[in-house]
Amino acid sequence: MRTTSGFSLLVALVIGAAGVARADPAELFDKKCATCHGKDGKAETAMGRKLNMRNLSDPKVQATATDAQWERLIVEGVKGAGGKNVMPATKLTDAEAKELVKYVRALKKP
Ligand code: HEC
Repeated sequence: MRTTSGFSLLVALVIGAAGVARADPAELFDKKCATCHGKDGKAETAMGRKLNMRNLSDPKVQATATDAQWERLIVEGVKGAGGKNVMPATKLTDAEAKELVKYVRALKKP
């Protein structure tokens, strides 16, 4: 009896924690990415121009990388010529990075 109720409490806790950890990718992108990439991914921002960034909504740009490559890049950041990060590492989880890649893929404009 004891073990059974203990187990269901554990299950409830795990489900609850998963609910809290789940971030909305649109909100994440606006908060952590749009300052450089722009809300539409076109990088029409001060940073985008300074770093000569690519337009993430361009199908040609999207075709140059796999989802897995972008997931890694979002977690680890991008190094520039000097070995310094031009895009900061985000410390997001793999699951969050996956959601963000899906979000960026959906920004695609032919
Ligand atoms: C400080 C500015 C900055 C922030 C913040 C930033 N990025 Fe970047 N990002 C860059 C730069 C610079 C590059 C490399 C140049 C390029 O590809 O345009 C890059 C490249 C990328 C690429 C690869 C584009 C390609 O050419 O293959 C993706 C995808 C990407 N960023 C997604 C994100 C996501 C998602 C976030 C938010 C979690 C984010 N970035 C936050 C600056 C930033």
